[in-house]
Amino acid sequence: MKAPALHFSLPRARVAGEPEGLKGGEPKIFQAATISHANLANKVVTGPYFSSDIPMLPFLRVENLETRYGDYVVMRDISFGLKHGEILLIIGGSGCGKSTLLKYLIGLIPSDPGHIFYQGIDFTLASAIQYEQISRQFGTLFQNGALWSSMTIAENVALPLKKHTSLSPDAIADLVSLKLALVGLESCQNLYPSEISGGMRKLAGLARAMILDPSILFFDEPSAGLDPISARHLDELILNINQSFGATIVIITHDLESIFTINGRVIFLDAETKSILADGPAKELRDHSDKEKIRKFLSFHSD
Ligand SMILES: Nc1ncnc2c1ncn2[C@@H]1O[C@H](COP(=O)(O)OP(=O)(O)O)[C@@H](O)[C@H]1O
Ligand SMILES: [Mg+2]
Repeated sequence: MKAPALHFSLPRARVAGEPEGLKGGEPKIFQAATISHANLANKVVTGPYFSSDIPMLPFLRVENLETRYGDYVVMRDISFGLKHGEILLIIGGSGCGKSTLLKYLIGLIPSDPGHIFYQGIDFTLASAIQYEQISRQFGTLFQNGALWSSMTIAENVALPLKKHTSLSPDAIADLVSLKLALVGLESCQNLYPSEISGGMRKLAGLARAMILDPSILFFDEPSAGLDPISARHLDELILNINQSFGATIVIITHDLESIFTINGRVIFLDAETKSILADGPAKELRDHSDKEKIRKFLSFHSD
């Protein structure tokens, strides 16, 4: 199943590779998947993406992004692409800048300098309305699950529906039950976060991240704080979500078990050089990377 194309009215945002004369100007309805290849600048679309009869933009494209807190630069000149339905693992040592990059990808920190495109739309130049339209396609599971302790599991999961839709309470209750069943928590609807285990809180966070049927899911250290069985269960669930719903997935992790269970493409962030040191399939990098640091990082795992 393909992720749906985004339809936006675009008064301001730049389209990747758009000819100079088309920038700005009148609002226009834009459907990313129908843009011709002639419009795609090579420098913009360089990542791997579906070979298909229909020209497709990568789902996500990051261009020359600098991540920082004030004057403190965390990473420089970050560029990568991500195709529809792909799983990307962002890996690297503790404190190298993985969670910081995630904050930029979901718009919690404005990008400057650098650009982030979703289906060809420049997220970094988006108006408030465009920001809402693009970010509505996101589902995010933060490291601690980030549930409200004073709300039941069902109320927590229902929050995005209440915020972003005008569905009736009955319809919301049905959707919440459906998503909780998907993660195996249907019997926990009326419990509070403190009444369930850490692993179950993560699953509830996942149900909430999925509630608006996102096109892209972001996970920050999904296995952190979980026992090995719960961690592998969550990894399997993430894979199932990718395969069943075609969701594009970005996972931040330094957990080697997760990296090799999910076995997707990885990009390795390196604190020393403040750059992406490697980009490729996890096992291939472990066995064949020309950089010792990468082979070492990935070799403490045995399968
Ligand atoms: N809010 C913040 N303000 C200033 N520095 C921060 C902040 N959050 C993280 N950092 C610093 O940025 C660097 C990257 O942090 P982070 O992205 O959390 O790393 P990781 O997720 O890879 O462990 C670290 O040196 C960290 O101390
Ligand atoms: Mg982190």
